[in-house]
Amino acid sequence: MSLELSPSVKYWLNFFHPLMMWALLVVSIYAAYLGLQVQRTRNAQGEEKKELIKGRYNVRHYQIGSILLALMVTGAIGGMAVTYINNGKLFVGPHLIAGLGMTGLIAFSAALSPYMQKGANWARATHILLNFTLLGLFVWQAVSGVQIVQKILTKA
Ligand code: HEM
Ligand code: HEM
Repeated sequence: MSLELSPSVKYWLNFFHPLMMWALLVVSIYAAYLGLQVQRTRNAQGEEKKELIKGRYNVRHYQIGSILLALMVTGAIGGMAVTYINNGKLFVGPHLIAGLGMTGLIAFSAALSPYMQKGANWARATHILLNFTLLGLFVWQAVSGVQIVQKILTKA
């Protein structure tokens, strides 16, 4: 079964997910920067610590992280939706598998938030490990994603 959308709508839908995910890659690099500032703040002393606290990096990191969580989950679902609308099926390949893996990773790492806020070191260490894995997969996903875009462009 394929949905009855006009061919041009179906075609342009293809670019929504890639553009959004590239924007999200930039957001996730910013989130990583904020997270590292949170860590710096916690380890700093004296005047430097006072200055860093003023940056409210913990609050800003949590806010950006929450936006990242919401958009990554919906963006991955959106990628599958567009693939299904255009092909009547999904392609069980590396981009799909890595994408679903990333969605699981970010849900898991966000769920550690209340434990990190209570000061649990195991939660921090796990959060950092999961999220730097996530960033690595994201760069890789951007490469395989652009290859899919190229395929779509040459088919058209
Ligand atoms: C690219 C993704 C992310 C990276 C690289 C990242 C990295 C980090 C780092 C390095 C820390 C500092 C840990 C420490 O204090 O030693 C941290 C803390 C934290 N992160 Fe993330 N994070 C990411 C995404 C998220 C997301 C999606 C959420 C939740 C929605 C989140 C919530 C938090 C919270 C609540 C803390 C503790 C802040 C505090 O101490 O008050 N992070 N993160
Ligand atoms: C960073 C740049 C990315 C680019 C350029 C990209 C590109 C694409 C393209 C062109 C498609 C085909 C569907 C469509 O045309 O909309 C697609 C599908 C998909 N994308 Fe991405 N993507 C990127 C990142 C991500 C990320 C970060 C995730 C998950 C967190 C993800 C998950 C998916 C999934 C699950 C599909 C469906 C695959 C299938 O069933 O074959 N993508 N992507």
